[in-house]
Amino acid sequence: MELLVTGLIIAVTAVLLVYSWGNKVKHSRLPPGPPALPFIGNSLHIDKRAPDRSLIQLSRKYGPVFTVWLGPRPAVVLCGFEAVKEALVNQADDFGARGTVPSIRKVTNGYGIASSNGHRSRQLRTFAISALRDFGNGIKTLEDFIRQEAECLVEVFKKTGESPFDPTFQLTSATANIMCAIVFGNRFDYKDPKLLTLLSMIDENMKVISSPWGQLYDLLPNLLDRLPGPHNRLFENADKIKNFLREMIQVHKDTHTEGKPQDFIDSFLIKMEEEKDNPRSEFSDENLLLSTFNIFLAGTDTTSSTMRWGLLLFLKYPEVQEKIQSEIDRVIGMERTPCIGDREKMPYTNAAIHEIQRYSNIIPLNLPHTVTRDTEFRGFLIPKGMIVIPLLASVLYDPCCWETPESFNVDHFLDERGHLKEKEAFLPFSIGNRMCIGEKVAQMQLFIFLTTLLQNFTIGSLEEPSAIDISPLSSGFSTLHRPYQLYCIPRKSARRPARE
Ligand code: HEM
Repeated sequence: MELLVTGLIIAVTAVLLVYSWGNKVKHSRLPPGPPALPFIGNSLHIDKRAPDRSLIQLSRKYGPVFTVWLGPRPAVVLCGFEAVKEALVNQADDFGARGTVPSIRKVTNGYGIASSNGHRSRQLRTFAISALRDFGNGIKTLEDFIRQEAECLVEVFKKTGESPFDPTFQLTSATANIMCAIVFGNRFDYKDPKLLTLLSMIDENMKVISSPWGQLYDLLPNLLDRLPGPHNRLFENADKIKNFLREMIQVHKDTHTEGKPQDFIDSFLIKMEEEKDNPRSEFSDENLLLSTFNIFLAGTDTTSSTMRWGLLLFLKYPEVQEKIQSEIDRVIGMERTPCIGDREKMPYTNAAIHEIQRYSNIIPLNLPHTVTRDTEFRGFLIPKGMIVIPLLASVLYDPCCWETPESFNVDHFLDERGHLKEKEAFLPFSIGNRMCIGEKVAQMQLFIFLTTLLQNFTIGSLEEPSAIDISPLSSGFSTLHRPYQLYCIPRKSARRPARE
């Protein structure tokens, strides 16, 4: 028996040695990294509830550019502002491709803005950026839609009386409605069963993808595809969302008036018609479906989650809330809803929103990138197609760029005269060829929604500020805050917003 066990140990050790030697030879000019085990790679080095923190920790030992094995696949991690900027800006063409992870590949099959590369990605990105910029139906601009939605949000907050509630549902409904306005030209009532179903699926998917199950799927997809578990809900929900979008696209095909785009789908259909004789056109049904899917998903939970973090931070730091309210009273008053033109006259509010985005770090790992060819970087060679993780958490918390990276500090964005201080390392939307296309839309929503809420209410918590825990619950794909409740007290002189 003893002999058998010893034999087994020798055999396993031999396999491990041959495997890691093989990897070393194959990837000899890769950046250094922790030793990896067969099949599971560096899983044991990475905390599934806070992978960003584990990677930052590893960079302390292996430097700002290092290799980790995600299961059987190696990935290069870029850590800190300098390394991320050098890759995504100075070598933008090399690092500007989207890396695929198995879960995303399974849902998109390489179609749509966010998962495509090369010619397809360039066509779809250029089109989507201009469609978002020109959004509006001639009567209403995007800003009008957001201001109107902010008023609806005030109404639903009012209905809670002064009782404590979890604001997730209301805030996600508001941001989902802005995405609905952009994609299909209409909003839903917050009680509409269609909206409720969509939101519950998006919510569940964000939770699964940020959970250890989501990460495990990307490590071992072939195995997990054969096993039951919550990861399967990810794909069931994605299919249902796609079916809903297919129906909306069909309605647009049946009803849209030539040359009069009302929304993203209309504009795309017009482009499809214009390009129908171009064999290199990427304006196809599949790309329309997946691009609307991308915008809808990328735009809904991100903005809502940032606002939820914002309100939680106002509960923790009531003095920040008070300062924003004084600025609102001075610049906007109570007689009209906030508009985006107010932002430049409100440096404190603007700085606080920047700091909310920095601190909440909602896409800590960024979306995966890859290199478009074998790429020399800081003396290493990254082979074409290898996953690259430009770690946004390491930029937003880079001790070389922020005075107090671990604490919420509005002064990060204020100069000595109280003016907004732009910071190069403020990269919640990433940078370079694949940076977020919804930055302006998100920033407009954050400003108008948060100022409209604080114009109308003071928010409070049943817990003492000192007892409120603002550390993340988990940070896989997204950094999730801990569940919390707030109550809102109407401000004495707050007017009832008039509908436009
Ligand atoms: C606070 C809100 C948001 C944050 C923090 C955020 C952040 C990001 C990040 C980090 C990326 C990946 C960039 C990269 O790969 O380098 C991204 C991509 C993307 N975002 Fe956003 N985003 C937000 C809101 C939005 C909104 C409102 C929209 C739609 C209107 C949107 C649409 C997209 C799309 C389509 C991509 C894929 C771009 C590509 O692959 O070329 N995002 N976003």
